[in-house]
Amino acid sequence: MPDLFGRLAPAEPATEIMAEGAMLLRGAALPYEKALLIALDDITASSPFRHMVTPGGFTMSVAMTNCGAAGWVTDRTGYRYDRTDPQTGRPWPVMPDCFLDLAITAAARAGYPDFRPDACLINRYEPGARLSLHQDRNERDFANPIVSVSLGLPATFQFGGLKRTDPVQKYALRHGDVAVWGGPSRLFHHGVPELKDGIHDTVGRMRINLTFRGAL
Ligand code: SIN
Ligand code: FE2
Repeated sequence: MPDLFGRLAPAEPATEIMAEGAMLLRGAALPYEKALLIALDDITASSPFRHMVTPGGFTMSVAMTNCGAAGWVTDRTGYRYDRTDPQTGRPWPVMPDCFLDLAITAAARAGYPDFRPDACLINRYEPGARLSLHQDRNERDFANPIVSVSLGLPATFQFGGLKRTDPVQKYALRHGDVAVWGGPSRLFHHGVPELKDGIHDTVGRMRINLTFRGAL
């Protein structure tokens, strides 16, 4: 809204550079919002959200499921990609076209025109859930970037460096934002501190994160 002098507040930049090879595309998922949420309901009807256990025996506060040819799983034996959902014994739900289209379009905007994801990890954060600083390193080919879509309640994204002790930058991730990291920042540490309570208009009392990978 213009102020008293008719000036418009400076618009938030549509893209922010987080590091070399890493970009934040503000609002890039908004045109897909409805389609994504409908598709998500279908996915979770076949492969429901569940709290997985880490190799160290901790139950994760973030609930997860997957779609695509492979899904990321963790249990007492380790982290891996699995073509079947261990909970249902069936293949993961097929990746919906709207998921694919958004991931490919966002990756291309960030400088990765060849990205074709075969896995999408779906994270559900309820208030208090968090994901500690980690690297995504269970994928076969690190030439593929990670494309990460935020829906629902806002969160803080911590984005560090190659070493766990490297300084961490913080970004507010809001409904519709898409983060892409690859190339020199593909193995950068990242995490999400405790989600604050709130209610989002269309998503409710949670944050959903879709993380697209080239896993196989
Ligand atoms: C992840 O690292 O898998 C999720 C990151 C996020 O929730 O933004
Ligand atoms: Fe990650």
